[in-house]
Amino acid sequence: MPKAYVVQDKYFQKAKEQGYRARSAFKLLELNEKFRIFKKGQKVLDLGSAPGSWLQVLSQKIKTSNDQNTKTVIVGIDLQEIEALPGVQLYQADITDLEKLKELLGHDKFDVITADLAPKTSGIKDVDQYRSVELNLAVLEVAKLFLKPKGKLISKVFIGADFQDLLKELKQNFLKIRQHKPKATRDRSFETYLVCER
Ligand SMILES: C[S@@+](CC[C@H](N)C(=O)[O-])C[C@H]1O[C@@H](n2cnc3c(N)ncnc32)[C@H](O)[C@@H]1O
Repeated sequence: MPKAYVVQDKYFQKAKEQGYRARSAFKLLELNEKFRIFKKGQKVLDLGSAPGSWLQVLSQKIKTSNDQNTKTVIVGIDLQEIEALPGVQLYQADITDLEKLKELLGHDKFDVITADLAPKTSGIKDVDQYRSVELNLAVLEVAKLFLKPKGKLISKVFIGADFQDLLKELKQNFLKIRQHKPKATRDRSFETYLVCER
C-alpha cells in the first residue's frame, strides 16, 4: 500500500507553532545548517517568495541590529502578492522578465540568491519537471546579472529527464554544485535543492 498523503504533517504543525508562513521554512533552515550559507550583513535576493517563510528565515539569519530598520538587505520577488515583512523589500513580478528585474533592482548585486520556485503543476510529472528546469534556467540568467562574483545560489528543482541538462548549464557557471533533499521535503516529492558556489 502506498503511504497516505498527509496534508497537515508535523512540519505544517511546527510552522504554525513557530510563526512561519509555510513549512518550507524548515527546508531552508536545514540547508543552512548543512551548508553554512548565511552570514549577518549579507544581501540576499529570494525568488518565488510567497507566502514568505524563506524571507522570515532570512530576516533571522541575515539582519544585524543596525539594518533592522535602515538598510534593505533582503529582497523578495513573486508572481503573487507577498504580505509585508519589516525591512524586506517586496516586488510582485515574473522572475523570467529580466528587463523588469533590471528596472526594479538596478545595479544591485547580492551575496546569495535563493529560489524556491514552483511552476503551476499540471499533475503530469514530465511536464512539471520540464517547467521546473525552465524556471531554473531563468534563475541562472538572474544569477548572471545579480549575483556577486563569489556569490552562492540555492535553487529548488524537480528531478526528471532534463535534470542532467540543467546541471551541465550550471556547471558552466559554478565551480561547485551540491545537492540535498531536506527532511521537510515530502517523501514522495521529486524535488531537490542545489547549492551552487562560484
Ligand atoms: C513553493 S512556493 C515558495 C514558498 C516560499 N519559499 C516560502 O517559504 O514561503 C513557490 C512560489 O514560486 C512562485 N513562482 C513560480 N513561478 C514564478 C515566476 N515566474 N516568477 C515569480 N514567482 C514565481 C509561485 O508564485 C509560488 O509562490
